[in-house]
Amino acid sequence: MFFAASLALPLVWFIARFIVNRKRSDIRYAPGPSAKSASWIWGHELEAFRGQALEVYSKWMYTYGPLFKINAAFFHNDIIVVGDHAAVQHIFADIFTYMKGPSLRPITANIVGKGVLWAEGEDHVFQRRLLSPAFTLESVKKMADVISECAEKVQCLFTWLEWKFDQGKTFAGFLGPVVIRAFPSIVSLSLKSQNNTAGLSTAQIIDNISTFIMAGHETTGGALNFALMELARSSRVQQKLRREVQQFRDALSYDAIQKLEYLDAVTKEVLRLHPSVPHTERVAMRDDIIPLATPIRMRNGTVLTSFKVQKGQVFHIPLMTMNTNPKVWGEDAGEFQPERWLTPNAIRPSNELPHGWSNMVTFTDGPRLCIGYRLALFEFKVILATLSRSLEFHSTDATVNRKDILTLQPVVDGKCGVLPLRLTLASHT
Ligand code: HEM
Repeated sequence: MFFAASLALPLVWFIARFIVNRKRSDIRYAPGPSAKSASWIWGHELEAFRGQALEVYSKWMYTYGPLFKINAAFFHNDIIVVGDHAAVQHIFADIFTYMKGPSLRPITANIVGKGVLWAEGEDHVFQRRLLSPAFTLESVKKMADVISECAEKVQCLFTWLEWKFDQGKTFAGFLGPVVIRAFPSIVSLSLKSQNNTAGLSTAQIIDNISTFIMAGHETTGGALNFALMELARSSRVQQKLRREVQQFRDALSYDAIQKLEYLDAVTKEVLRLHPSVPHTERVAMRDDIIPLATPIRMRNGTVLTSFKVQKGQVFHIPLMTMNTNPKVWGEDAGEFQPERWLTPNAIRPSNELPHGWSNMVTFTDGPRLCIGYRLALFEFKVILATLSRSLEFHSTDATVNRKDILTLQPVVDGKCGVLPLRLTLASHT
């Protein structure tokens, strides 16, 4: 009798918990690819990783709508993939309820240490408050001269050598280190100049410097590589950009560069199509109800305008898919068209778009918005303007694939971080 009860009780508890949990979450009837199509060990995650960066998530999002579920690898609970802009804004706004996924934190700690990118909760608020002054508009303006000087050095080097990169020679593999070498002191300079890091331990300061170097240069350098690839593919855009920067005689100070409209449009279009961080992840720390901008139809036919989630729910947020959704950006969403940023009404009103820099999620949003986005944009513009003033970029016949390996990476002939490009000297107007 006692033996039967000791077996029955856990079973009753398990069933009761299952029934209560089902009510706490809407995931059961969420749309998504069929469970039968999932691998028993990898779920849908391997399929999503294969192919071009975020290609599979984009396909599923256009099929199932802006919130859907997939089977997770290793028998974990289903993952919600969410690209609905109201839902994503809600998730990014509340950093105490939605924290970074447990899978990313150990990797971050190993690669860059326990700085602000890794920190969570009160530790994150503390570190972010002390570090933010180094990245304000005023601080970036103070770094402007150093950045412009570095960009000039890179350009002089290229022009002097009259680099000609033939097929097989890797411009990206070259550009990354050059940029990193040319710009090493900027962040530490700004941290020193703020003199307000008192409160951070020496280890935290060191971890944050390596965070800024990795998080900053890997992303900005990567975006520049894709910018040069797009310019090489479109001589029209390249010529128009070169005309604008060659006709601009002022020094490339922070305020001056804001006047270059076409450079601004090219910058936005590169960062829309090639966001250096293609997706991010969050996990719910408590039960919550997530608002939806677009109602979703569930498998049982009901239509939801908000979505109940349970503590522990993992989310994948496909930033690249959101930036290129044809329902939001139009039929030419996947094409490189800087003019869309300059044509009245070519882009939807901002209340129908995500909340973030230029209504995109490239730098995410909320209290964990990329701390270095102003610096990144300025560096990107100065380097692109300086290089395109005196160099022409030409495509090779290499096929460039894009992979989401924490950051967006070009892959050519199976080699990662490789982006062949041919350079010649530009004629001056
Ligand atoms: C094109 C260039 C860049 C892009 C697209 C980019 C993108 C992002 C994104 C998407 C995040 C949020 C990641 C997440 O929450 O999962 C982020 C965070 C961060 N970025 Fe950037 N980033 C860029 C450049 C930079 C630069 C130049 C720096 C600093 C020198 C920097 C430092 C950081 C740091 C420290 C965080 C963590 C912020 C926090 O959690 O409070 N990034 N970045």
